[in-house]
Amino acid sequence: METKEDQADLFREFFDDGEFSMDKVRELSELMMRYNSAIREVRTKFEVLNDELSLKTSRNPIESIQSRVKKALSIAQKLRRLGKSVTVENISKELNDVAGVRVVCSFIDDIYRVADMLAKQDDITVVAVKDYIRKPKLNGYRSYHMIVEVPVFFSESKQIMRVEIQLRTVAMDFWASLEHQMKYKKESADRPEIAAELKSCAEVIAATDARMMAVRKRIENLEKQTEKEKN
Ligand code: GTP
Ligand code: MG
Repeated sequence: METKEDQADLFREFFDDGEFSMDKVRELSELMMRYNSAIREVRTKFEVLNDELSLKTSRNPIESIQSRVKKALSIAQKLRRLGKSVTVENISKELNDVAGVRVVCSFIDDIYRVADMLAKQDDITVVAVKDYIRKPKLNGYRSYHMIVEVPVFFSESKQIMRVEIQLRTVAMDFWASLEHQMKYKKESADRPEIAAELKSCAEVIAATDARMMAVRKRIENLEKQTEKEKN
């Protein structure tokens, strides 16, 4: 069991000097609990879609799902970076990525399929979409980003919570993970020849993603043909 003192320690670093109080810690830990619950709702939606699609297609469109709630200190830093005051109220007002879910798919078309299925669910509101697959970032980064709102039911209220969802293929995830590790707080990673090399890797990976999807479709078509010839 977490004591009040543990919670205070966990969230103390969020508050500016003089802003700290047990009431505010309670408010902050309740908000974090809500974000955690929103993540569970969104994860379950993707798990259900994966189960159903796996039955229908005999393969898994979703390889894995990761999720995280942003740490109190990172939240405070981001609010400061945006020039906002570091208050509990400003967290849900100013930030879209406190709750994050990353869905790693097998193939590019799986990304669009599951993203579309989620968007069509009547309790989901899509707030924003950034398609860095059709329009990759200049550094080569590819993924499909959505900000959604999902209702979560608590003992006495229904809360609409925002969740950032990143959908990418296994290959895009490989690139993004390694690029993040290499670039994080390392200035030499910004040198043009290094940036060019990373971008070129991203392009090779994107081409391989496209070829893998084409191979899968060829196999599917051949299977269909064999099936037809049998009948
Ligand atoms: P943030 O303030 O960083 O959250 O960016 P944003 O609000 O402009 O949103 P965007 O959709 O561009 O990026 C959100 C998240 O996507 C980031 O926090 C990263 O997790 C991921 N991301 C975006 N660009 C890159 C990139 O170039 N490399 C890697 N590895 N991840 C990226
Ligand atoms: Mg972010």
